[in-house]
Amino acid sequence: MRSIEDHDLFPSTPGKVKIERTNMLNRQFYRCFASTSTMFVWALFLIALTASYLSFQSFVDPKNRHYPISWGGLNWEKQVRTSAQIRESRQRGMSVLVTGAAGFVGSHVSLALKKRGDGVVGLDNFNDYYDPSLKRARKSLLNENGIFVVEGDINDARLLAKLFDVVAFSHVMHLAAQAGVRYAMKNPGSYIHSNIAGLVTLLETCKAAVPQPSFVWASSSSVYGLNEKVPFSESDQTDQPASLYAATKKSGEEITHTYNHIYGLSVTGLRFFTVYGPWGRPDMAYFSFTRNILQGKPITVYRGKNRADLARDFTFIDDIVKGCLGSLDTSGKSTGTGGKKRGPAPYRIFNLGNTSPVTVPTLVSILERHLKVKAKKNFVDMPGNGDVPFTHANISLARSELGYKPSTDLQTGLKKFVKWYLSYYGYHHNGKSVN
Ligand SMILES: NC(=O)c1ccc[n+]([C@@H]2O[C@H](COP(=O)([O-])OP(=O)(O)OC[C@H]3O[C@@H](n4cnc5c(N)ncnc54)[C@H](O)[C@@H]3O)[C@@H](O)[C@H]2O)c1
Repeated sequence: MRSIEDHDLFPSTPGKVKIERTNMLNRQFYRCFASTSTMFVWALFLIALTASYLSFQSFVDPKNRHYPISWGGLNWEKQVRTSAQIRESRQRGMSVLVTGAAGFVGSHVSLALKKRGDGVVGLDNFNDYYDPSLKRARKSLLNENGIFVVEGDINDARLLAKLFDVVAFSHVMHLAAQAGVRYAMKNPGSYIHSNIAGLVTLLETCKAAVPQPSFVWASSSSVYGLNEKVPFSESDQTDQPASLYAATKKSGEEITHTYNHIYGLSVTGLRFFTVYGPWGRPDMAYFSFTRNILQGKPITVYRGKNRADLARDFTFIDDIVKGCLGSLDTSGKSTGTGGKKRGPAPYRIFNLGNTSPVTVPTLVSILERHLKVKAKKNFVDMPGNGDVPFTHANISLARSELGYKPSTDLQTGLKKFVKWYLSYYGYHHNGKSVN
């Protein structure tokens, strides 16, 4: 059967031929154009398909993700190896990869490990969640003490594999994370990136490493969420997180459990309770209060239900460091090889707190005394942004298994913090800035 188009190609009257030929040329041109544009559409479709495949691949396989390479080379490897070396005189020393080493807790733990003769390599992505110059200053301090800090992301599977290629780390002290409770409302993705995806990438590397390292990492007291039973014990319910941050830490506890269960990774999770001290985190209340008090700016003090004061189990950094080192020392070995579990490995969770909560107004009055300046306080009802009214740690488990014994009260700890703050930010002791 002929189509309408076939019919058009054969004119019925000879006089029409010239016009018909022109029409024919037009039609051919149109067809040619139509087929070119079809090809163009197909090409676009194929490009889009390839791009979405590649991005899916990089989503499911972190090895395919691309991170800027600022690492590698013989000199870099030598620095990593040297930094990981255990001092000869140290018996049963360990070589530890400390993630988040340019952070508050990470820098202190790295220095303490190095001081006693263990090998330490740091890893940090120096993100700008808070002033990165403070992280750089901590890094310089670590460098001066013989600790090399690699600049990279825990999601960079190639970098992690390379690090384990260069050094057979016996332990990983995982402290890199997106911290802070309120920031999760602004940038939720950063919590998923570091606390979930990054954690899994790191665990994948540890699982595959030969020998498998023991894994000690920072969870948080925030997993207790809306729990009202005090003091908070490790066996309490933790299924009512009050913030996305808490939810990612709780997920971390479940995720690490699966790596322990399936691959025989030795895992210790540490629930830190409001850590404070020199070289601390500028986003935390004691730090920002100090800054504002010194600058004559008002501070916002939150109040809970029925105007009740908020309270925290503030824990001094030196005590937390002792808890971290105690956890590393007692972690027990991982039992997996070649991605297979060869026997049961320890899975532990500990509270690391001070076990004596202090209200926020009391914290402010201690700061006023140390700074010799009165604070301008604005009392405000606590908004529902992820904060909880109080925290209080039961530390008996850590005491019996890690020998953990916090020894610094808030008064003494804040004195040390204020001394550091004034000197770091260039204040004379009368509270006047020299800058
Ligand atoms: N400080 C506390 O009061 C407290 C309380 C409970 C739990 N924690 C946990 O303890 C750990 C240390 O906290 P901190 O107070 O030292 O915080 P911090 O922000 O000072 O340190 C974390 C460090 O990790 C780095 N980091 C973040 N994401 C990274 C990534 N994807 N790759 C590589 N590096 C990355 C950051 O740059 C930062 O230097 C965190 O896991 C935190 O959640 C802290």
